[in-house]
Amino acid sequence: MVTRFLLFFVCLLIFVTTESLLVNITILESAVAKGAVCLDGTPPAYHLDRGSGPGVNNWVISLEGGGWCQNVTLCLTRKNTRLGSSAKMDHQLPFSGMMSNDPNFNPEFYNWNRVSVRYCDGGSFTGDVEAIDPGTGLHYRGARIFKAIMEELLAQGMNTSQNAILSGCSAGGLATILHCDNFGTLLPNNAKVKCFSDAGYFIHLNDISGQPYIEHYFNDVVTLHGSAKNLPPSCTSKLKPGLCFFPENVAQQIKTPLFIINAAYDHWQVRNILVAPGTDPKGAWKSCKSNIKNCTPYQLTVLQGLREDFLKALEGLGRSSTRGYYINSCFSHCQSQQQAYWFGLNSPRLFNKTIAEAVRDWFLETDQYRHIDCPYPCDKTCVDATDIITSQHI
Ligand SMILES: *[C@@H]1O[C@H](CO)[C@@H](O)[C@H](O)[C@H]1NC(C)=O
Ligand SMILES: *[C@@H]1O[C@H](CO)[C@@H](O)[C@H](O)[C@H]1NC(C)=O
Ligand SMILES: *[C@@H]1O[C@H](CO)[C@@H](O)[C@H](O)[C@H]1NC(C)=O
Ligand SMILES: *[C@@H]1O[C@H](CO)[C@@H](O)[C@H](O)[C@H]1NC(C)=O
Repeated sequence: MVTRFLLFFVCLLIFVTTESLLVNITILESAVAKGAVCLDGTPPAYHLDRGSGPGVNNWVISLEGGGWCQNVTLCLTRKNTRLGSSAKMDHQLPFSGMMSNDPNFNPEFYNWNRVSVRYCDGGSFTGDVEAIDPGTGLHYRGARIFKAIMEELLAQGMNTSQNAILSGCSAGGLATILHCDNFGTLLPNNAKVKCFSDAGYFIHLNDISGQPYIEHYFNDVVTLHGSAKNLPPSCTSKLKPGLCFFPENVAQQIKTPLFIINAAYDHWQVRNILVAPGTDPKGAWKSCKSNIKNCTPYQLTVLQGLREDFLKALEGLGRSSTRGYYINSCFSHCQSQQQAYWFGLNSPRLFNKTIAEAVRDWFLETDQYRHIDCPYPCDKTCVDATDIITSQHI
């Protein structure tokens, strides 16, 4: 009897922990008339799960990530994928972590209106080139997509928000920083509006061969997408536009409260920026890139240097108490929408708080959360990358 009950309970637990909410897509056809389109000219899209009860006037908007395309060839390879065309997107998207509708998994935001904005422009929602590329039919219109989707959400009820958060992860986390004040100005004056960037704090660093790969890369993105006019003017008035894609150069001027979640050893930055394409011809970094536990002592020294560089770049946030941060020492990327990282018994903790608790305290202003983890390998609360469901759109 007892074993049968236990078995039932275990099955129930498995069911509960693997069940995930699927939210239908909305294709915003009306955006086409505004020229707000994906790389291939199809309309942009979002997924909305309506809030309820006390959360009915609260909104959390999440901008999807997925890297960038910095030249025509690479944008063309996206054109027939979900990252370049709404015709190729899944009709349903799993909502978990900060997007979950279950109070056991997402205690603070589960009953808010939760929106995932699909990423199909390849330029962190900053592009705006009027001309369509004649040879390829490519459109660079990310900033128009951002504007059109926000207009739609305002009309869907976001115009009467009491609380609103713009968030996003990776390229979407960077877009969150770059658009934070735009978002702030769209919402009612009496609303509490904040931005929360997850894994979007890309730093200006040299790769393992000593070259400024990411500086050239961001410069190419900004040039191709015509992003300059949509980057914060407080930065573009002083630095060349490509440099204004780096959070460290724009964050201090942002007026809307901003929270940064990032791993100091962000594995996307390690795999794609630190060990830049072509810098590891013999594959010496292959094993270390896949899991920090496999790194040699020399490679760990390089990664500790990355952490130092990251913390220095983080000073770009300035001292304002409106800007908080949660910098853990996990080897991770995009933690807020993965349940195992966001909130659970075994989720990472920093100063004894899960990411969900830190974001809640920062949003409610019960704690101006600003904490940095001790260097790897001291944090024993990190979730092993292999525990993570990888099917998520990150
Ligand atoms: C989502 O779409 C499916 C299939 O198109 C439909 O059957 C279902 O009712 C939709 N769900 C909601 C909540 O609209
Ligand atoms: C686009 O960028 C990739 C990666 O840097 C490079 O291999 C390719 O030659 C570039 N293509 C063009 C047309 O510049
Ligand atoms: C919000 O938008 C709706 C739909 O467009 C409109 O009916 C309503 O008047 C707006 N409310 C405010 C306060 O702007
Ligand atoms: C850490 O947090 C847990 C759960 O919130 C709590 O039960 C525990 O007492 C806290 N430990 C310390 C040392 O603060």
